Amino acid sequence: MSIDTPTSPLRHQDPEVAAWLDREDRRQRTTLTLIASENHCSAAVRAASASRITDKYAEGYPNRRYYGGCEVADGIEELARQRALQLFAGAEDANVQPHSGTTANLAALVALAGPGGRIVGMALKAGGHLSHGHDRSHTGMLFQARQYGVDGKGLIDLDEVRRVVREHQPKVLIAGGSSYARNIDYAAFAAIAREVGARLLADVAHPAGLMAAGIVPSPVGIADVVTMTTHKTLRGPRGGMILAKKDCAKAIHSAVFPGAQGGPLVQQIAAKAVAFGEALQPDFRAYQQKVKANAAWLAECLVAHGLDIVTGGTDNHIVLVDLRRFDVTGAAVEERALAAGLAVNKNAIPDDPRPPMVTSGLRLGTAAVTTRGFGRDEIAKVADVVVGLVRGNDPERFRPVVHDLCEHFPLP
Ligand SMILES: Cc1ncc(COP(=O)(O)O)c(C=O)c1O
Repeated sequence: MSIDTPTSPLRHQDPEVAAWLDREDRRQRTTLTLIASENHCSAAVRAASASRITDKYAEGYPNRRYYGGCEVADGIEELARQRALQLFAGAEDANVQPHSGTTANLAALVALAGPGGRIVGMALKAGGHLSHGHDRSHTGMLFQARQYGVDGKGLIDLDEVRRVVREHQPKVLIAGGSSYARNIDYAAFAAIAREVGARLLADVAHPAGLMAAGIVPSPVGIADVVTMTTHKTLRGPRGGMILAKKDCAKAIHSAVFPGAQGGPLVQQIAAKAVAFGEALQPDFRAYQQKVKANAAWLAECLVAHGLDIVTGGTDNHIVLVDLRRFDVTGAAVEERALAAGLAVNKNAIPDDPRPPMVTSGLRLGTAAVTTRGFGRDEIAKVADVVVGLVRGNDPERFRPVVHDLCEHFPLP
């Protein structure tokens, strides 16, 4: 029983934790989440995640466990796997156990590159992710990593990728990022990887939901391995997943367990199964179409008000704002936005002169507000608020608009 219900045992047994969780519930209800990596999952997903199967140890894989009493865990994991394979048509194998996107990447890199192997990924400051070989991440410490950047417009330059790959001769080339708003040419990445005998790892943590719905090009069937998180556009519980071609599957499974993790979080796997079931419904495609249309419209509104967008627009749910023209930092706008009731995050823009905790950019995403039911009118209002905040208007002025939107578009 989750905190959602007034009779929740948590409320009686531990009012202190319950009070914190109530506060988070209020925060989400009264805040518009424009953080591109977040979403609002369904009550059914949350119910599965809070279920009794959290008690169960199930080290191993279905029908090959190190503990007794795993028949339910087996059924759940197999269901999640089958739904994942149905959702990402063309995928040959799926591992639904990774606790997170980072664990999924670490396991995939060990499986494909081996300890100390050479890898190439997109630099964090160009829009990549820490787990693609950044020197503060284990992926940068345990592998010999090199990174590629983006061009002056913020776009991936395939010639530059090829140059770095030829020079470094990696075993794994990684495509994908955390703040890259454009489609990626996975076939071109695969061709570059092939030139040096490398494997292609596509990390689709961000656009996974759009890909499942067939809204943006997918690397499934092209990349050797595809990693993702389940909690961003895919709108599931927190967690990771790996899709693999048959010839990589065995190595991936043993890199996840026992390589990178112990017992799987079966309650999260159950919640992933629920989310995949939801994503297989026809209305999920309509939702993802709206996510993408809302992002394109948001970018258009911001540009019309004089803001600069990195790459000039978006192909997915992400809009990366370049704030340099306004002489304001990402950190300052993030703080103002919170005061107005908007959750956004500061984000480095390509070649950002400012440090990561300050930045010159703002990353916005439309997955969560689209879950609330936002369309063009509401996005236009949000754009007005963002522009006002960037221009330095008092955040308090925007509170009523945000409050009104939250009231009329409740959380699921
Ligand atoms: C591209 C990419 N990969 C991996 C991750 C890591 O996911 P997690 O936070 O679940 O470890 C993220 C998270 O934002 C991401 O954007």
